[in-house]
Amino acid sequence: MNFNILRFDTIGSTNTEAINQARLGAEEGLCIIARQQNAGRGRQGRAWISEKDAGLYFSVVLRPGIEIRFLPLITLMAGVAVFDTLQECDLKPDIKWVNDVLIGEKKISGILAETVETPKGLAVIVGIGINLKSSNFPPEIEQIATSIESETQRLLNAEEVAATLTKFFSYFYGILNDVNGPKNILGEWRRRSSYFSGKSVRVVLENETVTGTTDGLEDNGALRIKTSSGLIKIIQAGDVENLRTSGAGIAAHDS
Ligand code: BTN
Repeated sequence: MNFNILRFDTIGSTNTEAINQARLGAEEGLCIIARQQNAGRGRQGRAWISEKDAGLYFSVVLRPGIEIRFLPLITLMAGVAVFDTLQECDLKPDIKWVNDVLIGEKKISGILAETVETPKGLAVIVGIGINLKSSNFPPEIEQIATSIESETQRLLNAEEVAATLTKFFSYFYGILNDVNGPKNILGEWRRRSSYFSGKSVRVVLENETVTGTTDGLEDNGALRIKTSSGLIKIIQAGDVENLRTSGAGIAAHDS
């Protein structure tokens, strides 16, 4: 995959810019990186705090050739790429379904994948935020979020982290598009996430709350939860809370 990086000093949201570029016909691999976002977005309409040089704010345009039913695996694939990026920064990450990358239960990175119809067909925009420093966090966020600097006492610059991230992203996107790609990405995710199975969790959905133990993923990446009555609930989207650590389910770094 060839990356073509557009850099901005300040932008509303790198995802919004990538969506606009995709609508204008941008090719797969166009990346937007900004030093600061003033309208950074997280999942479910939440905000993503994006102060200058405090994080990597990165979005990439994809034009995937995989079957539509496997599109949710793009988020899992991105989580795997972020995991390996952080490991290369000497961290020991975990991935909480579906898109939170954690260090010791504190969120260090979030992923927001959005699909958009364009004249060239469906595009998927993958936005990734990685916290480089957290001294700027308000106290309530400090409890639930962390950064590379807090964990390693090293302040990395966004460009170094972006170089590592694009290397792994390209590698795992290649795997997703290859023979048995969906199965292989599920395997890569499974190896990196303590949430794959046996984790006591709660998921708050629009009309119900599901509590139980994680029991693997479906072929499209949906989470299976076994309830105390032995029923399997399939979760396509939602915020997972680890029941062993109070408060960890709040999408850290969002407000
Ligand atoms: C989440 O965990 O809720 C997802 C957060 C995604 C944040 C990134 S920062 C770069 C890109 N631009 C945005 O506006 N959001 C994503």
